[in-house]
Amino acid sequence: MKFETIATSDKREKADLIIFPFFKGKKRAEPCAAASDLNEVIKLVVEAGDFTGKKEETLLAYLSNKKEKRLLFLGLGEEKELTLETLRRSFAAALKRCRGKNWLRVNVVLPKLNKWEGDEVLRAVSEGIALCFYLFEGWKSKENQKPFHVKTFALIGTKNKKAAEKVKAILTGVNLARDLINGNALDVTPQHLADEARKLARRHPMIKVTVLNKKQIEKEKMGLLLAVASGSSVDPALITLEYRGNPKSDDLTMVVGKGVTFDTGGLNLKPTNFIEDMRGDMSGAAAALGVIQAAAEIKLKTNIVAIIPSTENAIDALSYKPGDVYRSYLGKTVEITNTDAEGRLILADALAYGQSRFAPTRIIDLATLTGAAVVALGTCRAALFCNHEKLAALCERAGEETGELVWRMPLDSDYKTMLDSNIADMKNSSGKRAAGSITAAMFLQEFIQKNTPWIHLDIAGTAFLDHSEHYHLTLATGSGVRLIINLLEKLS
Ligand code: BES
Ligand code: ZN
Ligand code: ZN
Repeated sequence: MKFETIATSDKREKADLIIFPFFKGKKRAEPCAAASDLNEVIKLVVEAGDFTGKKEETLLAYLSNKKEKRLLFLGLGEEKELTLETLRRSFAAALKRCRGKNWLRVNVVLPKLNKWEGDEVLRAVSEGIALCFYLFEGWKSKENQKPFHVKTFALIGTKNKKAAEKVKAILTGVNLARDLINGNALDVTPQHLADEARKLARRHPMIKVTVLNKKQIEKEKMGLLLAVASGSSVDPALITLEYRGNPKSDDLTMVVGKGVTFDTGGLNLKPTNFIEDMRGDMSGAAAALGVIQAAAEIKLKTNIVAIIPSTENAIDALSYKPGDVYRSYLGKTVEITNTDAEGRLILADALAYGQSRFAPTRIIDLATLTGAAVVALGTCRAALFCNHEKLAALCERAGEETGELVWRMPLDSDYKTMLDSNIADMKNSSGKRAAGSITAAMFLQEFIQKNTPWIHLDIAGTAFLDHSEHYHLTLATGSGVRLIINLLEKLS
């Protein structure tokens, strides 16, 4: 699929469909752009009153003797309530009408809006379309697939092709993450993630990759990563990707992503209804790869190092055992009270290793870390934990701008006492349901050097959906990629 841009509607080419946006007016829907040759049809439909311009409402009309064969009326809701997220969702709703149809070229009329000055409107519209365009249908027989056939979306009312192309470039990162998350756990192993990282490095000379294998992880004494990996039939990997977009600067953001390629829970086995989506437990790792890919595609002028600890959390005679104590890379010891709290263990070693190797300016970790984050926030917002006010505020703003909303949670030291152990420096889980996502964050904080600004994003609720929602048609959302790219842009 590609985007074209066309300055004015009279210059547009023939197409299978034209998408035309409307506001919900006081009495009738009101067009939010001009196209003189379509006025007649528009008047007819609007006056009939069947189409009211509500958010995401669509109505398809057939045209004769016009540049397009069809006209899709698209509602944006009331003008004063309009947000960029409404634009994304509405244009995604329009795109859904194209699914399974043999339409190759679609003209898209951009709404004229005074609310935003720059290319925000163009970006939101193209983002809604591009995000929604992603499907994961490879496992279905041809006759059961319902693909999009559109090759070209011509955006009418702009000359800024660069902005639309940038959206597409960032989406390559989002879709890389989505593909890896949706893929079978049997295929998407730690080795597979390492291979994907190497592929990125081959494609982009600004990316450097190193992979520690099991032997090297043993030599580094990453006791927590090894503990989780002990029951797995496939070897763990510790993947490092360095992207130097601003080699002259010392500023470096470290992105750490949880890469559990399947989470059975280990000996504290997950029950039915809790285990089925656990191939998505590497969504943090996928997002970290997606961020590196997107940054390289848009040549972001910043330095990033991504660290991905990856393993399966499997059930086996060799699985690590509840009650046992393991020593972390940093030296702190951990009593394993629950083998299903494995994400924080592998992250702890990756965080400590990454800090000792790279001394980053700031740290962002992403993880499908706790069911408690899903209970607290559902699929609408990721849980944000941060030890730095300014960075937290920037992240919240990045969330508003991208529609990848976050909600800040506390890091009060009192929560830490819930992890006190009689036999080790701490337990890996409190054994209580109370404040589950907070105690997980407190655990991670034990492995963050004082004064290093740090963001922890618990994306357990947002990374992997069991239904289609807005512009996410199949399961994996790529949660975190657009958010972090936006945040890195603010920081650079
Ligand atoms: N991978 C899960 C968290 C999860 C749950 C992700 C639902 C996506 C959807 C994590 O490893 C886990 O099992 N956490 C436990 C921790 C508990 C044992 C302290 C949980 O949240 O129940
Ligand atoms: Zn788990
Ligand atoms: Zn997990």
